[in-house]
Amino acid sequence: MNVMIIGGGGREHAIAVSVAKSSRVTKLYCAPGNAGIEEVAECVPIGVMEFDRLVAFAKEKEVDLTIVGPDDPLVGGLADAFEAAGIRVFGPRKNAAIIEGSKAFAKDLMKKYGIPTATYEVFSDADAATEYLQTAKFPIVLKADGLALGKGVLICKNLQEALEGVKEIMLDKHFGSAGNQMVIEEFMTGREVSVLAFCDGTTIKTMTSAQDHKRAKDGDQGLNTGGMGTFSPSPFYTAEIDAFCQKHIYQPTMDAMKAEGRDFVGVLFCGLMLTADGPKVLEYNARFGDPETQVVLPRMKNDIIDVMEACIDGRLSEIELKFADNAAVCVVLASAGYPEHYEKGFVITGLENFSGKEGYAVFHAGTKKDAQGAVVTNGGRVLGVTALGEDLKQARKNAYAATAWVQFANKYMRNDIGKAIDEA
Ligand code: AMP
Ligand code: GLY
Repeated sequence: MNVMIIGGGGREHAIAVSVAKSSRVTKLYCAPGNAGIEEVAECVPIGVMEFDRLVAFAKEKEVDLTIVGPDDPLVGGLADAFEAAGIRVFGPRKNAAIIEGSKAFAKDLMKKYGIPTATYEVFSDADAATEYLQTAKFPIVLKADGLALGKGVLICKNLQEALEGVKEIMLDKHFGSAGNQMVIEEFMTGREVSVLAFCDGTTIKTMTSAQDHKRAKDGDQGLNTGGMGTFSPSPFYTAEIDAFCQKHIYQPTMDAMKAEGRDFVGVLFCGLMLTADGPKVLEYNARFGDPETQVVLPRMKNDIIDVMEACIDGRLSEIELKFADNAAVCVVLASAGYPEHYEKGFVITGLENFSGKEGYAVFHAGTKKDAQGAVVTNGGRVLGVTALGEDLKQARKNAYAATAWVQFANKYMRNDIGKAIDEA
């Protein structure tokens, strides 16, 4: 069958590698892809928000299945556009992707259906938010309602910071229209876990757990980023916690979306915090996580096309997801200065060191080929170096060793990805 992936980051590279392994796939396209994805797919220069061009391309090339990676096109209704054209698509419709597209929607859904999450209020007016904050407990968390590249969350230590945050989000519109509404919620403490799950609208099956590192610098210092590294599984996500989440979070979320007439088909990403009062939902995403995917999919044993088709056809209950009894660590190699100002266009050397190395992968995030055909840096997050190991410590050792195999000017990484493993 002919398959197309929409997106061009490390997550899409990891998805592409998994799809390329499927015996059922004869031709793989990726729009727009990147210099790494090019090795497993034919990349086509169409942007992820160019819906008409994407649909036209899929029709022309007789694409049988399209897989949507990023949040923006899903929240914007790309799955609906493909469905309307009669092309099979893996990813939620617009009316279900809202679970990521609006934090107010997600919070109201959890409240209505009794799914554990931080207590909160929604505001669409800065004055009301300001008044509420006068008597609030600190620290407190401010969230722009809409998509903000993972940056629309402000943790405020005191009233002054919170008032500045309200101004930033609602008045200065730092995150654009994402700040038309705002959620103010209770600050929670605990370990964070990402759990991704395949969904067919009725059945939800979770993949192995992972943990992201969102801050730019070692020791969880610095600004929030798209994610600087991951490990899988999380040793803190025990069987007992899993049982609780299956019963009180995952299935209830599926059922809630169905009850609202918003059947969720695709990958649901539950960002959890393991608090002293039990697991609570920090956020939902309507897609695979980045860079969680880079540690989860390399451990999956199923043919990913079989699983995705079962989701689309409502047969997920027939599938048993299988993950290897090993571990994976991904260290992101970024451009110094990310997530603020950084330079691009530096030649990357050493990528060939990964070819044929069992248990290692280099997933391209921000790369492209220059006019001479050299692979150059083209973004804040440049590469994700993933290594497997028999356990987390071995995987971490392998991943850090492999970060030395590639070089580029201004290469930057965190040196403590997976440090939490030592506390398990
Ligand atoms: P989100 O985009 O909602 O996942 O938020 C980004 C990050 O902010 C999360 O990964 C947490 O580290 C932090 N965060 C979000 N909500 C809360 C909360 N209610 N309490 C504490 N930390 C939070
Ligand atoms: N790693 C967090 C995300 O994909 O949103």
